[in-house]
Amino acid sequence: MTKILVTGGNGQLGQSILSLVNKYKNLNIHFSDIDELDISQSEQLKEYTRAANIDYLINCAAYTAVDKAEHEKVLAKKLNAEAVKNIAIAATENNFRVIHISTDYVFDGNTFKPYTEASFAVPASYYGQTKLLGEKYLMENHPASMIFRTSWLYSQFAHNFVKTMIRLGREKSELRVVADQVGSPTYAVDLASTILEIISQIESGNKHFIPGIYHYSNEGICSWYDFAINIHQLMNIDCHVVPIELKEYPTAAPRPLYSAFNKNKIKNTYKIQIPYWRFSLEKCLKAIKTEN
Ligand SMILES: NC(=O)c1ccc[n+]([C@@H]2O[C@H](COP(=O)([O-])OP(=O)(O)OC[C@H]3O[C@@H](n4cnc5c(N)ncnc54)[C@H](OP(=O)(O)O)[C@@H]3O)[C@@H](O)[C@H]2O)c1
Repeated sequence: MTKILVTGGNGQLGQSILSLVNKYKNLNIHFSDIDELDISQSEQLKEYTRAANIDYLINCAAYTAVDKAEHEKVLAKKLNAEAVKNIAIAATENNFRVIHISTDYVFDGNTFKPYTEASFAVPASYYGQTKLLGEKYLMENHPASMIFRTSWLYSQFAHNFVKTMIRLGREKSELRVVADQVGSPTYAVDLASTILEIISQIESGNKHFIPGIYHYSNEGICSWYDFAINIHQLMNIDCHVVPIELKEYPTAAPRPLYSAFNKNKIKNTYKIQIPYWRFSLEKCLKAIKTEN
């Protein structure tokens, strides 16, 4: 059976993969997080993966506090870049494939045209810089790797924009949300399902493992304001949402104004269907309602 190790398994994407394990009984998936396997510890990583004898490592571990990264630079670089190099070196030594997750924040968002995998990446934030460096370290040290760049990740798990809008919408009568920053939300369960589907296709011999970068988000483009309005409508939350400009919502880390992806590469290579963002949002909200 194909053996997969998920690192950062307690995070949002890790838990989304966990929610799908019963659908992929052909895959033997083990979940770890920092207490069991710290990806910044290169020797531990080599020993752990040697003993586990895995076929794939899906790296969901990361430093994801975008604003804090502007002043916690050492830690952000350690987790998003140096630890990814550790994974790459362990993968070469112990012969497994790496699936790594990156971000739309590798782009500065000033081109206003969907980004392809070949688009020149110039991050606006330090977080984006560390994620781009992680991509580079991985491809230099273990070219047999896939990188999925994703954007605006949300789910029923962990903290994210959807859960924040539900909470604030219930607490407040008015909210101000940025309307001139546009991109594509990604339901983490859709991304998780795509990753497991691609591994299954490869392992059943229907497709080849083709290393490189792939862009993945849900279909469609919206602003954070559109996203918030839809969350409230679908949850029957009565809150006045006021559209504001990004410059009225100062953050430590600059955000790309436009970060939509061109997703033709993943669609053409692996023949996957990507759901429209509002349909996926409905699915996520249904899961949140069931939990409450
Ligand atoms: N969230 C987004 O909107 C978004 C958008 C685009 C791309 N991405 C990318 O998508 C990926 C998954 O994001 P996510 O939202 O699932 O992140 P997340 O919820 O922050 O999960 C990251 C996990 O990694 C763990 N971790 C931290 N340091 C570690 C270490 N040294 N060794 C092992 N595990 C460690 C964290 O544990 P602790 O919680 O204990 O620190 C956490 O469980 C990341 O690569 C991120 O950059 C995210």
